[in-house]
Amino acid sequence: MCGIVGYIGNKEKKQIILDGLKELEYRGYDSAGLAVMKGLELDFFKAVGKLENLTNKCASFESEGYGFAIGHTRWATHGKATEINAHPHLGEYSCVIHNGIIENYKEIKDKLEKNGISFLSQTDTEVIVKLFEFYAKDLNAFEAFKHTVKELKGAFAILLLSKKDQNKVFFAKNAAPLIIGRNSQNELFFASADSPLVGLSEEVIYLEDLSFGYANKDELVIYENDELKNKSFSKLLSDKSYAKKDGFRFFMEKEIYEQSRVLSEVLMGRVNGDEVIFDELENEDLSDINEITLCACGTSYHAALASAYLFERIAKIKAKVEIASEFRYREAIISKNSLFIVISQSGETADTLEALKIAKEKGARTFAVCNVDNSSIVRLAHLSLLTRAGIEKGVASTKAFATQVLTLWMLAIFMAQKKNQNLNDEIKALLHIPNCVVVTQKLHDKIHRISKRYLDGHGFFYIGRDVFYPLALEGALKLKELSYLHAEGYPAGEMKHGPIALADSKLYTIALMPKNMLYEKTKSNVEELIARDSTLLSISPLEFDLSDDFIRTTEQEHYMCEFFEMMLITQLLAMEISIRLGNDVDMPRNLAKSVTVE
Ligand code: G6P
Repeated sequence: MCGIVGYIGNKEKKQIILDGLKELEYRGYDSAGLAVMKGLELDFFKAVGKLENLTNKCASFESEGYGFAIGHTRWATHGKATEINAHPHLGEYSCVIHNGIIENYKEIKDKLEKNGISFLSQTDTEVIVKLFEFYAKDLNAFEAFKHTVKELKGAFAILLLSKKDQNKVFFAKNAAPLIIGRNSQNELFFASADSPLVGLSEEVIYLEDLSFGYANKDELVIYENDELKNKSFSKLLSDKSYAKKDGFRFFMEKEIYEQSRVLSEVLMGRVNGDEVIFDELENEDLSDINEITLCACGTSYHAALASAYLFERIAKIKAKVEIASEFRYREAIISKNSLFIVISQSGETADTLEALKIAKEKGARTFAVCNVDNSSIVRLAHLSLLTRAGIEKGVASTKAFATQVLTLWMLAIFMAQKKNQNLNDEIKALLHIPNCVVVTQKLHDKIHRISKRYLDGHGFFYIGRDVFYPLALEGALKLKELSYLHAEGYPAGEMKHGPIALADSKLYTIALMPKNMLYEKTKSNVEELIARDSTLLSISPLEFDLSDDFIRTTEQEHYMCEFFEMMLITQLLAMEISIRLGNDVDMPRNLAKSVTVE
């Protein structure tokens, strides 16, 4: 989603904003803009496309000396990616940046238009600054801002500058993240995520929903639900090592290679002998749980699907999976003794967050499996487990997915332990997982070579059974995100009920054929496709003569070990195809890392 940064201090403001936006660019990169206010001087710049266009545009602009600056990188929701629609949006003497969606912007726009106010852009954001100036005719700037914020419905993180009161940054937050940072030099920073603050701020405040206020070098005034609050700063815990590619061509490539280490960290301190232990759940009694609902979006939804097989098979607990955007408007029944687990890399996905709120309101016991501590989702859920993936910068998720599946599998084992089952094989497999995702030069070279045969075609079908079906979905999602080729994941046994009509030599089948899970069944399904001339890339430890291409995996004793190795292969394949097609691997078109709008 869009990224927001702000700065109050004496340093070169433009550069601080550009550096901060660089950290957030992976979240949205349709356009970018910044504004700097020093005394009554208000300068702004906007550019379509990547941040470097904005950097070039304001190259000769300097902004030393005490003042205020705000910047924005956009993922378009209302109106195309044009310069006019880029933030900051301007009034006559004020400007605003915004992350989120103003749901009632049409009503506000109609009202203002009736009062003779005109609009330049197609965005929802422009109404904020126009409404502010409308109220500022009769009120002081803060009162006008307060009236404005109260009229907005939807999700927003807002920073506003105005010459009406040139000594303040006005801010507001609801259902979209906004953090205030501070350092010992008394500089203040704003950001929609931790990363731009790392190295600049020592302490932070994570604003709560329905917060608004203003700040300058002497004052920080925060209201929550209309009540003046005395919020205290907490230490910012992060380092910057994630920001380097360490010799890899792309962040995604680095993150794929990191998986072995990261998965070891997921296990660290959580397996003792033949037992899974979670300190976080030490005092929790989950013995009465007889049903689990898993809810998520995108890649996290695929991790949820995979884990549902594991909860039922290992923990013998009924598990169902919901897409968060569907769950929100379905009158879902949440039964007593059920656990509602949301899964999210960012912890800020609007649909997942809202689903969590609904489940909580309905009285469910809620549980977050999340990669970001202190995120909105972690703060809201009753219980949480962190997935320990570290910061993931590639927009197409890789290591975050791996850690989600591993964490959920451990949770399934943890819940099974309460039922006194023999889980030795599970624990043995669990501990072996970091070895299954080591990228060897041989494997990477092979995938690179094979990738040249899969740059066209009228479609890809990734097929698998059991947990390999969600993995097929995830493999297909990776391919479409990165290559812009059409790809679908399908249960292998379902192809004959329709999709097989598409089969010909230009339909590429990527078959996940593990030895330890329904091998013969999957093989029969693949043969049906071969008989219709589909081109086949099979991924299996067992040689398959009919394949056009074959990637041999390691002989393993547990299907989850095969799952992780095949996951690695599908990630590398999608990346290599994308590189050959000349696409931007880390920032694929039209996507955003964290979607904080509905
Ligand atoms: C976006 C990202 C996906 C991600 C999904 C859910 O669409 O592009 O990669 O899987 O959001 O994100 P979450 O942070 O909740 O896991």
